[in-house]
Amino acid sequence: MNVLLFGSGGRESAFAWKIAQSKLLNELYIAPGNPGVKEYGKCVDLKWDNFSQVRDFCLIKSIDMVIVGPEDPLVYGLADYFSDTKSLSDIYFIGPKKQGAKLEGSKDFSKKFMQRHDIPTASYQTFGKKELTEAVEYLKNTLGPYVLKADGLAAGKGVVIHNDLNDAINEITEMLHGEKFGEASSRVVVEEFLDGIEFSVFVLTDGHGYFLLPEAKDYKRIQNGDKGLNTGGMGAVSPVPFLTESILNEVKQKIIEPTISGLSKDEIDYVGFVFFGLIHTKRGIKVIEYNCRMGDPETEVVLARINEDIMGVLKQAGEKEIITRSLKVKEETAIAVMSVSKGYPGKYADGILVRGIEEASKEAIIFQAGTRLEDNKILTNGGRVLCATALDKDPSIAREKAYRSLMFIDFDGGFYRTDIGKDLGIK
Ligand code: AMP
Ligand code: GLY
Repeated sequence: MNVLLFGSGGRESAFAWKIAQSKLLNELYIAPGNPGVKEYGKCVDLKWDNFSQVRDFCLIKSIDMVIVGPEDPLVYGLADYFSDTKSLSDIYFIGPKKQGAKLEGSKDFSKKFMQRHDIPTASYQTFGKKELTEAVEYLKNTLGPYVLKADGLAAGKGVVIHNDLNDAINEITEMLHGEKFGEASSRVVVEEFLDGIEFSVFVLTDGHGYFLLPEAKDYKRIQNGDKGLNTGGMGAVSPVPFLTESILNEVKQKIIEPTISGLSKDEIDYVGFVFFGLIHTKRGIKVIEYNCRMGDPETEVVLARINEDIMGVLKQAGEKEIITRSLKVKEETAIAVMSVSKGYPGKYADGILVRGIEEASKEAIIFQAGTRLEDNKILTNGGRVLCATALDKDPSIAREKAYRSLMFIDFDGGFYRTDIGKDLGIK
């Protein structure tokens, strides 16, 4: 099969790495990709939002399958374009249409979906631009911490939590009437604060059946000990040791199955990944959020553990022939550690020389993310620069390998968290 993969981050590097191992693969194109994925396929200068250019490319290259890494193309309707365009409608498209992508693209939509299908989540209320007075009143009658969520996509920065009531009132005023989040916060979801340990599960669904992928825990804060600003993700571990068989059964029965049947009841045609951001509270497992795609850096550990030909699995989703089951996994622990630019997640410098990838690759898989090639040199090109993933039956050895590989990586100001996996008892 000829495959077109959209995206350029560590997640797409992991997809490209896994797809390149498939017996079913003929050509893999990555748009736009990064220098690291050139080992697995051809990078193409193709913009997802230029729909007619994408169409022409798919026809010229006889593309059989399109896989979308990030959420934006899905929320803005790339899947709809393929299904509505006669010459493209036979291509397997992995990623939901606009309506399904709203599970991520609109917090209000996803909360209503969960309420309608009786899926456990935090209680909430949504307020629009004209409802600031009501929102303030609601906050005053709620106990903190106060969880405020911009309804729309806000590049991972749309969730703000305040302990102080006045801070929360100022924040919601800014969200509804200020410029900070733009259109994304024209509606704001105010949510009950949930206390517990977070983890994530992932499925690939065709809207009826689903494949359960390995679970993961990610590390969102910039500093060790989960301190400092929120990031896209600084590391990930799979499996998650506290996720016992009985917790997993609860997740399947109370969360995954009602979500998949909810999609079908609501007549939402969904072929793609669902990422369940979950929290283990004293009152059971609850959904914090849905994403309509895989996570980054979760993909870098999840795909590393899958012991099947990923193209076969994706093809069954495209054909809508999934019979629900768990994918076969390696009984090994995978640990991913992200190396990031100085200043990230704030402003960071760009174009800094990255050395040592070849040596580091002897210890771990180096998935490039924010990198570009100039005069045959690899330069930084983003906040999250690369991700080291290591696998081993012994979690401590996996951890050691990931960190040992990063000792070879050198770029000015680059840093990483040194405590990935420690909270899970991995030394
Ligand atoms: P989200 O963008 O929805 O994943 O939210 C980002 C982070 O905010 C989550 O990973 C949680 O750590 C935190 N968060 C979101 N909603 C809640 C909630 N209701 N209670 C506690 N923490 C939350
Ligand atoms: N690592 C979190 C995400 O991909 O949304």
